[in-house]
Amino acid sequence: MRVLVTGGAGFIGSAVCRGLVLRKGAAVINVDKLTYAANLASLAPIQGLESYVFEQRDICDHEAMDCVFSRYEPDSVIHLAAESHVDRSITGSATFIATNIVGSYTLLEAARKYYDHLSAPRRERFRFIHVSTDEVYGSLGAAGYFREETPYRPNSPYSASKAASDHLALAWFKTYGLPVIVSNCSNNYGPFQFPEKLIPLTILNAIERKPLPVYGDGRNVRDWLHVEDHAAGLIKLLSEGKLGEKYNFGGDSERSNLDVVTQICDVVDKLCPGPAARRSMIAFVPDRPGHDARYAIDASKAHRELGWRPTRTFEQGLAETVAWYLKSRTWWERARSGVYDGSRLGLLATQH
Ligand SMILES: NC(=O)c1ccc[n+]([C@@H]2O[C@H](COP(=O)([O-])OP(=O)(O)OC[C@H]3O[C@@H](n4cnc5c(N)ncnc54)[C@H](O)[C@@H]3O)[C@@H](O)[C@H]2O)c1
Repeated sequence: MRVLVTGGAGFIGSAVCRGLVLRKGAAVINVDKLTYAANLASLAPIQGLESYVFEQRDICDHEAMDCVFSRYEPDSVIHLAAESHVDRSITGSATFIATNIVGSYTLLEAARKYYDHLSAPRRERFRFIHVSTDEVYGSLGAAGYFREETPYRPNSPYSASKAASDHLALAWFKTYGLPVIVSNCSNNYGPFQFPEKLIPLTILNAIERKPLPVYGDGRNVRDWLHVEDHAAGLIKLLSEGKLGEKYNFGGDSERSNLDVVTQICDVVDKLCPGPAARRSMIAFVPDRPGHDARYAIDASKAHRELGWRPTRTFEQGLAETVAWYLKSRTWWERARSGVYDGSRLGLLATQH
């Protein structure tokens, strides 16, 4: 099996590449533009293997995408390349529109042209997995869950751009018969995550004894899933997913942002004790504009139809993740000292 993975130098994409090569024995072609969020060091375990190749390409470049398909003749695509940080989408939406919408469109078109010329047995096997987020469904109140049929109500430029690409992907299935499957997953955490998102940013600030920012009152709730569990679900979709359908992935681990930050403080205190408890470094800061209150996933379709389940509790996964950041300083130091120093992103001029 040869799988074209887009965004494979990112957080989830690199877990998918490692999983495909090391656990599934698949060959992977990793297509990534290498934006600020990419880190090729995340692919060190498969770098140099015959079954892994890297192509630095932009998914918005249609000639480059046509070339990649004709050169490598993949059996399937897992499409993860995206601009992925909500805060950055608030102050710089243009790249989100370009990559998430136009880039996904460009890739779908390249895949369609390629698919149309495949032999019947290869068409039978071909899959295009479009990887998306639960944020497309909008915000929940205190009760309820996002299901596959929940109407789309995206609130941020990021989630709106992902919603647009989900609609395009499913339209390419309905209109052209491209064998598309869409996944919508809750917040991921784990090793190799660029330190701008809540969990890695809090871990690194806690290690370095810097203030630990919590947006608003910290009561916004997210449902957390370990990245390796998400990657395993995406790989399962290749063989078990039904064409033209959507699958929600979630960890059944709803936590408020304040709970997550507090828990990280306690784990870091345990692993590297210091003079003062890290909880005392929590700093409440102005809220994110349009901050969704609560996300919660009903993943029963994935449990039932894919035989997929998360393999770790949030507590186990978080402890492992903190331990990984503590021993992986060389991985994150480059990002932290050059690309992004941890300062606040995504505030409107009126909030400064
Ligand atoms: N992180 C989460 O919690 C989460 C949850 C659900 C779904 N998702 C989705 O999963 C996917 C991967 O998320 P992530 O957290 O790994 O993101 P990430 O920001 O860590 O990685 C994105 C990767 O895409 C690459 N990329 C960006 N623009 C590109 C372009 N124009 N051409 C080629 N490559 C490009 C980047 O270089 C980077 O390596 C995204 O589609 C995201 O919407 C993420």
